[in-house]
Amino acid sequence: MTDTQFNNPRIIVALDYPEAAPALDLVARLEPALCRLKVGKELFTVAGPQLVEQFMQRGFEVFLDLKFHDIPNTTAQACKAAAALGVWMVNVHALGGRRMMEAARNAVAQAARPPKLIAVTLLTSMAQEDLSELGMNTTPADLVLRLATLARDSGLDGVVCSAQEAALLRRECGDKFCLVTPGIRPADAAADDQMRVMTPRAALENGASYLVIGRPITRAADPLRALQEISQQIGGVA
Ligand code: C5P
Repeated sequence: MTDTQFNNPRIIVALDYPEAAPALDLVARLEPALCRLKVGKELFTVAGPQLVEQFMQRGFEVFLDLKFHDIPNTTAQACKAAAALGVWMVNVHALGGRRMMEAARNAVAQAARPPKLIAVTLLTSMAQEDLSELGMNTTPADLVLRLATLARDSGLDGVVCSAQEAALLRRECGDKFCLVTPGIRPADAAADDQMRVMTPRAALENGASYLVIGRPITRAADPLRALQEISQQIGGVA
């Protein structure tokens, strides 16, 4: 991977915690030079923007993974609030449609330091039968490509996708499109509940821009060491 528009560190540690204290303990053991942090709905709902600010004060850049999905004005205002908080990345659901994504893009563009704005395409928990039940006459793979293309055409910076989808989306959406991939597991790590996993190096070689990694780091006996090892594994490609 030779793209220069994606900055190191490429690893985003998923802070899936039910309260602030264990998240702060973990973060105290990590280094901002080696990773960014992802704060999702659970942790944000319990600990709020103050915790995000604490992480940023410690030098970490934050991906606020709240997957906004609402009418264009409400989504835009939520993205504006995220930008004012100073996060590095924020996301919305592509299923909110073009007008919603354009409103979100216009809102972040006005910020002093605009965060990267990316979209979730189709949740990986959604299978063919779920789409059929919703009356959507398409396959998950086709819908992912359609939504990723729509996100790009709406001016978004990228999408969340599986590493398996990264090669196709890299080809279809271009070199500058940011592909953020969860489901990453070092070769010697447990898959946990992830169905299809890929190693950090393979994901980057497949076109991923950033790797979301949770339990292989957060549940490691020595989280910093786990992070350092993964950083070394991707050293040549990132
Ligand atoms: O612990 P693990 O590495 O599996 O954590 C992956 C993170 O990425 C979690 O925060 C999970 O919610 C998120 N994620 C995912 N698969 C998706 C989208 C997000 O695992 N399709």
